[in-house]
Amino acid sequence: MTKLKNDTLLRALLKQPTEYTPVWMMRQAGRYLPEYNKTRARAGDFLSLCKNPDFATEVTMQPLERYSLDAAILFSDILTIPDAMGLGLYFAEGEGPKFERPLREEKEIRSLTAPDPALHLKYVMDAVSQIRKTLDNQVPLIGFSGSPFTLACYMIEGRGGTDFRQIKTMLYKRPDLLRHILDITAQSVTNYLNAQIESGAQAVMIFDTWGGVLSHSAYQEFSLRYMKQILTGLKREHDGERIPSVVFTKGGGLWLESIAESGCDALGLDWTINIAEARNRVGHKVALQGNLDPAILFSTPEVITTEVEKILKDYGSGSGHVFNLGHGISQFTPPESALTLINAVHSLSKKYHS
Ligand code: CP3
Repeated sequence: MTKLKNDTLLRALLKQPTEYTPVWMMRQAGRYLPEYNKTRARAGDFLSLCKNPDFATEVTMQPLERYSLDAAILFSDILTIPDAMGLGLYFAEGEGPKFERPLREEKEIRSLTAPDPALHLKYVMDAVSQIRKTLDNQVPLIGFSGSPFTLACYMIEGRGGTDFRQIKTMLYKRPDLLRHILDITAQSVTNYLNAQIESGAQAVMIFDTWGGVLSHSAYQEFSLRYMKQILTGLKREHDGERIPSVVFTKGGGLWLESIAESGCDALGLDWTINIAEARNRVGHKVALQGNLDPAILFSTPEVITTEVEKILKDYGSGSGHVFNLGHGISQFTPPESALTLINAVHSLSKKYHS
């Protein structure tokens, strides 16, 4: 039996009955919160926040102090794995993530090894245990990782915001090299998520932010296949509790049926798909998480409330829905908009659960 005071999120992910629809927001700790910007200034920069468990705990807790969220998500980044592989992660001010040593040469690719989470990513495991202590079983803690394909995009391109020319060239010209990178990365992600579970993560999510740039068959072979490999190797239980898993492929609306067969418990949806259609297609198999367009948070409280109601109505009655944004919250979001969203989900969703 869970000791959690609020386990609504875990029940919804497992399609068990709940009293209302639980809600959390992707990137819920971040630059739209003035208190985050203060802590970040104290830490010096973003990576120092991630690498110091005290700071990581502090910023993880910030959105929970403001809003009645149904989950906490570990404050970290998907790029901790390639950083631990020695690629030299850094964030140039205003330009997003970059790597000093992107993967281009066959020799470098062949010498890539999976990091030991207990050693090279100990700061993440320390943050997970410290956050669990601080949460004191109020709500569950979500752990996460990037998908192998999404991590490979950054590892090969060396930065975000590209046209994916380098990785797609490798995919079509040297698929053996890309497969090697994806194999090592899938092994790394499996070890990393299992270590997070052992340190106290109560659900896990795989962010496949860039899977949607692939062709139909390349998606199956170069993204989904490796996520399946991870799901096969994942611990499904810890301390007698089920650990639900969520797969989120941004732009994956065309492939919901195959993602639902991957062995995950829930699918993350971006805002381009109607959640009623998604439920018709895969709702008998998996729970659904999503899918408000984060740009709606730039509108008025009335519009936010109407759009929340539409998604709740489209999903309809019964459990298996976790309310979320269709992608991360923008740094320009007014914090009051998040409050409107969360309160609207809680009050309007009760009638869909009897
Ligand atoms: O949801 C949460 O609150 C947990 C924290 C979290 C961060 N990154 C913090 C962060 C999570 C789950 C991530 C995942 C992540 N990181 C993804 C997958 C999800 C997605 O958004 O698609 C990706 C692609 C990354 C890589 C990454 N990290 C990028 C592209 C950037 C720059 C983004 C930007 O808005 O400038 C980051 C930096 C980052 N990760 C920030 C935060 C709060 C902003 C850092 C800052 O304070 O400057």
